[in-house]
Amino acid sequence: MRTPIVAGNWKMNKTLAEARELVAALRAELTRIAAEGTVQIVLCPPFISLPQVAEMVKGTPLHAGAQNMFWEVKGAYTGEIAPTMLNELCDYVILGHSERRQYFGETDETVNKKVKAALAHHLKPIVCVGENLAQNEAGQTQAVVSTQVRGAFKDLARDDAASIVVAYEPVWAIGTGKAASGAGANAVIGLHIRGTLAELYGEATAQAIRVQYGGSVTPKNVAEFFTQPDIDGALVGGASLVAADFIAIAQAARERALRAA
Ligand code: PGA
Repeated sequence: MRTPIVAGNWKMNKTLAEARELVAALRAELTRIAAEGTVQIVLCPPFISLPQVAEMVKGTPLHAGAQNMFWEVKGAYTGEIAPTMLNELCDYVILGHSERRQYFGETDETVNKKVKAALAHHLKPIVCVGENLAQNEAGQTQAVVSTQVRGAFKDLARDDAASIVVAYEPVWAIGTGKAASGAGANAVIGLHIRGTLAELYGEATAQAIRVQYGGSVTPKNVAEFFTQPDIDGALVGGASLVAADFIAIAQAARERALRAA
């Protein structure tokens, strides 16, 4: 059985002081929700706040994560952050988010380099895939997510692959308030993402890999996703910035895990 994982992607939001405030508002409730180990909860603040957030979740069952990283371990790469800098602070790193692909030139090839570097330095990647609106309307969803999965997982051994979390985030659903339907997201994840992983690694590994849904997840619509068999949690943007909303989403993930048990 796959443990649901809920990650808050704060994006470029919250100053250090605000990050402190948000974690203080989240910590007790999320600790209670994650205490039995039925669900994993990850907070992904901007790099600047990561040491503070990591410190604040130390000794709790909560995890910290980064939103990006470079693949080299050190050197003349102005403005970049290395895996060796992150792995002393956090366990997870979001890689290949559609905003990174759209605004910062990330490709399947660079995502693959980052995935390999993360795994080599004991960071668990959360790899984002998803089609944009034009691709969706042109019926290219399957081809796009399959290509992105193959690209991100290129040359990865089965054991490494099994430790990766995939986030299915249709670009048209991110930050738009227009979420995918639960059944629609479940179909893309079950048929196209797990289908591609099964072609690469076999059915057992494909079934072991966790796949989140992301894109306008809120406390109101979360049940629609967490009642689907192939959706193992959520990558949450906007609603992760509001303590009560993120707590409600984490609580829904816990209920999903308890129902499945
Ligand atoms: P959203 O963002 O929840 O604000 O749509 C999700 C994401 O981009 O990870």
